Amino acid sequence: MNNLIDNTIQFVKEKLEGAEAGHDWFHIERVWKLSKKIAEKEECNVEVVELSALLHDIADPKFHNGDETLALKISREFLESQNASEDVIEQVLFVIKNISFKNRGEAPKNLPIELKIVQDADRIDAIGAIGIGRTFNFGGFKNNPMYDPNIKPSLNMSKEEYKKSNGTTINHFYEKLLLLKDLMNTSEGKEIAEERHDFMLKFLDQFYKEWNVD
Ligand code: ADP
Ligand code: NI
Repeated sequence: MNNLIDNTIQFVKEKLEGAEAGHDWFHIERVWKLSKKIAEKEECNVEVVELSALLHDIADPKFHNGDETLALKISREFLESQNASEDVIEQVLFVIKNISFKNRGEAPKNLPIELKIVQDADRIDAIGAIGIGRTFNFGGFKNNPMYDPNIKPSLNMSKEEYKKSNGTTINHFYEKLLLLKDLMNTSEGKEIAEERHDFMLKFLDQFYKEWNVD
């Protein structure tokens, strides 16, 4: 039994009580399990991988007025309270700071393997059937339209435009979800992403078929 991991699970569960369903404890649990699975195939620090997976959405800026430092502050305070080493704390905070899709333009080159693993796991949970479910849930949470044939997806949005986007949920597939397969870092991640990507393509085909009643 690992006390630090168990205590982190407890802490995250409490913090995410009542969170939006796409960013709740169950999202964290899936990303944590996927991260462990990918980590088995890589040479890495498993403790850093697990802690980063568990803490990566502890205070998502989307739900905290865009504050990008809160998650780092909360995670540091928690890990210090658990007497984690400064080296582990810094590695975990580095992952949390640089994991996000919308910040990918600002991330340093040569990412550490622990970040690559957790980023793949987080991106895998954004695609496939679960990804579809999460995306429609988030769109509903924002009261965005599900689909509007007159609103075209905007590719190459800046980070600011992406955050402000009030586009449709279907457009989010073209603006993010369908791009993720080719952004995978690890070979295990790529393999899992392929199947989920194909499922989203099938879903979209069926969606348009049902939309265009004739
Ligand atoms: P990150 O947290 O990696 O920067 P995002 O903020 O883009 O990633 O989104 C995380 C998840 O939230 C997405 O995978 C998706 O399910 C949902 N989401 C984010 N933006 C939208 C949107 N405009 N419409 C629908 N779902 C969204
Ligand atoms: Ni996440």
